[in-house]
Amino acid sequence: MRKLTYFIACSIDGFIGDPEGDASAMMRFVDEEFFAFLKAEYPETLPTHGRRPLGIDDLPNRRFDTVVQGRASYDIVLKDGITSPYAHLREYVASRTLSESPDPNVEIIADDLVGRVRELKAEDSGLGIYLCGGSVLAGELLDEIDELVIKTYPIVQGSGMPMFGAGFSVTEFALESVRTFKNGVLVRTYSRQR
Ligand SMILES: NC(=O)c1ccc[n+]([C@@H]2O[C@H](COP(=O)([O-])OP(=O)(O)OC[C@H]3O[C@@H](n4cnc5c(N)ncnc54)[C@H](OP(=O)(O)O)[C@@H]3O)[C@@H](O)[C@H]2O)c1
Repeated sequence: MRKLTYFIACSIDGFIGDPEGDASAMMRFVDEEFFAFLKAEYPETLPTHGRRPLGIDDLPNRRFDTVVQGRASYDIVLKDGITSPYAHLREYVASRTLSESPDPNVEIIADDLVGRVRELKAEDSGLGIYLCGGSVLAGELLDEIDELVIKTYPIVQGSGMPMFGAGFSVTEFALESVRTFKNGVLVRTYSRQR
């Protein structure tokens, strides 16, 4: 089985955005050193429309060949006319309201989200699945998550959109690695204890 990895940016107090989900307060920490890390280690998590202007469109995928996101996260770029934000990956968008896909590279998952993600995990591939968020989708897929890669930015928000839109339950993860950056950003990787 290949891994489902929730790769997510959050505040020190565990929020992935403001109460509406806007994560732009974190973006200023993507400085030269941190961007170099993302480019080297997780190039496929940089969206296509961000890679093209930087001339890094052809960077090979290192960890993931598939991305799954919720419709609300996808909507952010769709509103700007971007229909395939991760054109270098196979893209899946969970939605019960998008009746048809706006792009040939994007497959809509309308029913049996967990079953479809299990099928994707069972595929034979050397690369894993990038769970992009947001909160609702991560909450629904919590039981399927095998790995967390949490980019923690040095801010406290007090409130906001939680990392998981799920009810209370305790799930144990083991810390695998921590990377620190000069500007105070941390990247922690955890694997699920099953
Ligand atoms: N900090 C970060 O790194 C980061 C990363 C990603 C996103 N975000 C933020 O997260 C926010 C969005 O998160 P969110 O929690 O509001 O929404 P979301 O998880 O992105 O999307 C929720 C939507 O996914 C669909 N969905 C959920 N469960 C489903 C199921 N079982 N079957 C079919 N469809 C399902 C539904 O779409 P329909 O309503 O169409 O049915 C639901 O409304 C954005 O504002 C974004 O900025 C932050």
